[in-house]
Amino acid sequence: MLKKIFKVVGIVLGAGLLLVVSFVVWKLASYERDFTGVRLPNIHASQDPAVIAQGEYLVHSVAHCSACHGPASVVTHHQLPSNLQDMRGGYALRAGPFGTFYPSNITSDRETGIGAVSDGQLARVIRHGVGRNGRYAAFMGLVVGNMADEDLTAIISYLRTLPAIRNAVPDDEWGIVAKLISANFNPHPNRPIHYVPAGALSRERGEYLATGPAACSGCHTPTDPMNGFAPTGPLFSGEGHAEPDPTDSAYEFVVPNLTPDATGVMTGWDEDQFVARMRAGRVHAGSKMPWENFARMTENDLRSIYRYLHTLPATSHDVGTSRRHAG
Ligand code: HEC
Ligand code: HEC
Repeated sequence: MLKKIFKVVGIVLGAGLLLVVSFVVWKLASYERDFTGVRLPNIHASQDPAVIAQGEYLVHSVAHCSACHGPASVVTHHQLPSNLQDMRGGYALRAGPFGTFYPSNITSDRETGIGAVSDGQLARVIRHGVGRNGRYAAFMGLVVGNMADEDLTAIISYLRTLPAIRNAVPDDEWGIVAKLISANFNPHPNRPIHYVPAGALSRERGEYLATGPAACSGCHTPTDPMNGFAPTGPLFSGEGHAEPDPTDSAYEFVVPNLTPDATGVMTGWDEDQFVARMRAGRVHAGSKMPWENFARMTENDLRSIYRYLHTLPATSHDVGTSRRHAG
């Protein structure tokens, strides 16, 4: 009788173990899912100098591509490359158990850069987060803001002008946590966005920038990292979970609430104070915010962003001090 019970228990345990193991194996493999089916956007580089100049502004300022794709030493110290055309990549973005990710060489070198990557493939990784290899490009998918065709075209047009620099960059190394939750990481669908071109100062331009190519909303909105960073609360009400300060592990950062509420950082600021703060740049060495890029934004764009943020519904969400003792 006892023997029989042991046998049954053994079978049940064995089957359970097998299930768990196959679940983990299946999960671990899902990060290699193939997304070549995601259509290449119908975007083509232009040689119009005005379009290229618009792209340069986006790459080095609003959309802050150079905060990651500059030379590794420059990115480490949160500088902008002294030669803005040096987008050789190679910085190691260490994200703990999520893995280590390497911003690519996006100069026009054919072997180690994007010289042999088509306009459509470039547009696809920027808009949908699907790399040239058809896999989910984790960082690109999570950090690049949505943008209108006009801006996407401008960015690609500018990238085509970057002189070739030979610099082979390693492939991303997905960590165990990223692999386990990778089933939650999916390419962005087409997300229609109302394009408001640069020029006049307006709340609408501010909304386009802050929720679009500048991606302020991506960092300043609460999200669930275990669920593909899906929003879990009102836009711009501040990110709830803390992230370690890479320059000193005794400290951590939380991203503040930017809505016009007393629990937000901006309640006391008028438009001029906001512009002055954005121009002043980085205060905390380890902050992930690309202050150096944003400090270069035009006066009208910064003022437009203020006007937009100031008309958001006030949301009470006290995340505490932006940089504080860990734990
Ligand atoms: C926060 C860092 C970060 C920012 C900002 C960023 N990238 Fe990337 N980029 C990466 C990383 C890391 C990779 C490697 C693939 C991955 O993990 O997404 C990458 C890969 C790429 C690739 C190669 C994709 C492929 O097919 O292999 C291109 C092209 C690119 N980025 C362009 C851009 C452009 C243009 C911008 C600005 C609109 C930008 N990136 C902003 C980190 C960043
Ligand atoms: C990559 C993430 C990220 C992005 C993108 C980002 N921020 Fe931040 N932001 C942070 C973090 C982290 C802090 C807190 C640490 C600090 O002050 O640098 C912060 C702080 C701030 C502060 C408070 C500064 C202070 O003096 O207390 C303002 C204002 C702000 N961000 C505005 C913006 C605006 C406007 C945008 C878009 C143009 C933006 N942020 C985009 C991460 C981000």
